[in-house]
Amino acid sequence: MSQDGKSGGLRPLSRRGFLAGAGIGVGLGAAGAVGADRFTGSGDGDPAGGEDALIVPFNGAHQAGITTAQQERMYFVALDVVTDSREELRDLLRTWTTMARRMSRGLEAEPEGSVGVDRDTVATDTGEAVGLRPARLTVTVGFGPSLFDERFGLAPARPEELEDLPRFPGDQLDERISRGDLCIQACADDPQVAVHAARVLVKAGSGLVTVRWAQLGFGRTASTSIEQGTPRNLFGFKDGTANLKNEYTNLINEHVWVHDGSWMDGGSYLCARRIRMLLENWDRQTRREQEEVFGRTKDEGAPLGREHEEDPMPFNEWHGTDGPLIPAHAHSRLASAPANDGARMLRRGYNFVGGVDDYGHLDAGLFFIAFVASPRDDFITVQSNLSHHDNMNAFVRYESSSIFACPPGPVDDDDWWGRGLFDQTA
Ligand code: HEM
Repeated sequence: MSQDGKSGGLRPLSRRGFLAGAGIGVGLGAAGAVGADRFTGSGDGDPAGGEDALIVPFNGAHQAGITTAQQERMYFVALDVVTDSREELRDLLRTWTTMARRMSRGLEAEPEGSVGVDRDTVATDTGEAVGLRPARLTVTVGFGPSLFDERFGLAPARPEELEDLPRFPGDQLDERISRGDLCIQACADDPQVAVHAARVLVKAGSGLVTVRWAQLGFGRTASTSIEQGTPRNLFGFKDGTANLKNEYTNLINEHVWVHDGSWMDGGSYLCARRIRMLLENWDRQTRREQEEVFGRTKDEGAPLGREHEEDPMPFNEWHGTDGPLIPAHAHSRLASAPANDGARMLRRGYNFVGGVDDYGHLDAGLFFIAFVASPRDDFITVQSNLSHHDNMNAFVRYESSSIFACPPGPVDDDDWWGRGLFDQTA
């Protein structure tokens, strides 16, 4: 495969080409093996599943990075558009799609790469991912409610549900880290690959977009496939047990993908909340107190009164006369589908640490991300219930709030993020 991803020719500057040429990758095992035959994938460059476990297919009915088995690292950037030109915005989305497609395949963002350009030319790719594996990179793009104002002629196509999330009880929001016209969620198993992808796209948008805020996540707090183990959040609890998994096709279709016949058909809404965790307080609680906050055990992650993580929650069972086995205001009970008119969501959050605050306390927490088909039915209902009653509220502070509409995936190499939106408002 050449630098532009087609068969034949030289490929000295692709990340994968670099690996193959340098012989790096030997001994990485089946999933990590790198060799020349990896570059003879299908015509569109998306190797069939199993041919290269490190590459997540980019093209498809839905964007990658939603039901994709959750990667270990994330870099999330929210941007504001500073050009008023609809054409410039459209061209940028096209360019971003092409670049992200290449990077997901382990190539540099442009065929010239970071060092293939003339020495007097500024390269498009910044180069720090050269030599790194594709690391299951996914890049997912979303449009904020503010993109649908008068600037770009998109207002007639604003989905009814795409509006700023309401302010929930207890929210202590910092506007500087909330909202945005656009978002880029880059996830990978290597933090440098994720950061590089978003950084290169931001650079390509220089003069057209500015970064509003960004968040680095260092460890996943959910699993989105039954094949993944359940990770732990910074409270030390297993997180993601009752999450929607990509194998639950019917539930994913109902609660994650939009089916409305509009440009959003096949897309999903991304709801993000930066949640500071007051770890110093939490760390002083007994294990019993901590377990009653979640309604699950700390070791196994089992429902209280049960032994195994996967045991169903005994919501209706009582602990003698002491009250329900799962406390009335336990997080797991309040967030569950039965307590929220059947609401479900695909959680895809990450742990973060951002240093220390003025008191020397860890500025750490959970960057919560959920993908839903209906923000109103599947997210706001649950968040509202939690914000009013959750036992966990004594140990967290909701610091930011954002919503983005993630369009469907580009179906082939000629397609681009948001084409349906631009067509619908042409
Ligand atoms: C610091 C923030 C949070 C922490 C530490 C946290 C932690 C947990 C834990 C430990 C569980 C039990 C294991 C599991 O089923 O995954 C859980 C379940 C859940 N959480 Fe959270 N969570 C947080 C925020 C939120 C928010 C903001 C929402 C939604 C608005 C949410 C929605 C859910 C849902 C839907 C479940 C599954 C409930 C069930 O069906 O049993 N969580 N969370």
